[in-house]
Amino acid sequence: MNILLTGGAGFIATHTCVELLAAGHSAVIVDNFVNSKPEALRRVEEITGKKLVCYEADVCDRAAMERIFTENRFDAVIHFAGLKAVGESVAQPLRYYRNNLDATLTLCETMAAHGVKRLVFSSSATVYGVPDEVPLREDMFCKGCTNPYGWTKYMIEKILQGVVTADPSWTVVLLRYFNPIGAHESGRIGENPNGIPNNLMPYITQVAAGKLDHLNVFGDDYDTPDGTGVRDYIHVTDLARGHVDACAYAASHTGCEIINLGTGTGYSVLDIVKAFERVNGVKIPYVIGPRRPGDIAACWADPSKARALLGWEAKKTLDDMCRDAWRWQRMNPDGYGA
Ligand code: UFG
Repeated sequence: MNILLTGGAGFIATHTCVELLAAGHSAVIVDNFVNSKPEALRRVEEITGKKLVCYEADVCDRAAMERIFTENRFDAVIHFAGLKAVGESVAQPLRYYRNNLDATLTLCETMAAHGVKRLVFSSSATVYGVPDEVPLREDMFCKGCTNPYGWTKYMIEKILQGVVTADPSWTVVLLRYFNPIGAHESGRIGENPNGIPNNLMPYITQVAAGKLDHLNVFGDDYDTPDGTGVRDYIHVTDLARGHVDACAYAASHTGCEIINLGTGTGYSVLDIVKAFERVNGVKIPYVIGPRRPGDIAACWADPSKARALLGWEAKKTLDDMCRDAWRWQRMNPDGYGA
């Protein structure tokens, strides 16, 4: 299949690109590089030994999208493009709603105009909100999100469900990611946060590298085994394979499916710190601090639908995630550079 990846230079997208090319597909990228670097795509080409077609453009730019769809014939689209920083979305809600919703609407209108009707969307476990019970299943009622970023994912799910209701010949797969960490085992591509990381694993790797002094653990009074927050961490390469399987599924089905991509196992913040220290032989000094507003106690996936529909399951272990995250940090102390 020839697949368009919007936001194709990002963390999850570059790993997906590697897996798509390895599975014999071809990929076209559109990215405005607002939060990513062209160097990431160069490294995908280096890892795979294959050439990518890349457009520097904003998915909200209708004329640019029209040109991309006129110059290529796509079998499916994977829609990664979007702003994704939770705290920033609280400070800049209008920018988040405008960008994330506009990009999706422009993309879908362009797809419809060109008869491309298979879409895989980067959704998030954040749409479940504060869960009543775990593990989280796709058929659970989503009670609402805690920030504008989460709401954009929720609203886009609704928009895409509406597209399928109106035209059942579409296929939409809404992939709800849990917590992607790790990096490609080559150490050549990985997560490249701007400034001080918000998320746990990139923060830990920067503490390990001596760039940050210590980890702040956000609360140890949750109702969890050790009191720290529990999440379903998934290796980004496993997550990437899930997209390849979702594209294969989309090629032979119509309708809309919501699918969790997680391992089904929850680990606490301190589990992650201990595993990282043990696997990599480094010390991660940490300080217990207050809870972070908006955080939930525990969240992990029931991944059985992904197994049933896609034949997918996570294969990599927490040790793999810690080892690969640290290799990426050591080999690329400044990420992809300036
Ligand atoms: N944590 C710390 N210290 C840090 C960073 C995080 O203790 O410096 C803790 C958090 O409190 C939480 C856990 O580590 O318990 C994971 O936090 P992350 O920020 O890495 O991830 P979140 O689960 O908060 O959020 C992630 C993505 C969101 C997505 C959400 C879906 O960042 O985009 O998962 O559940 F919406």
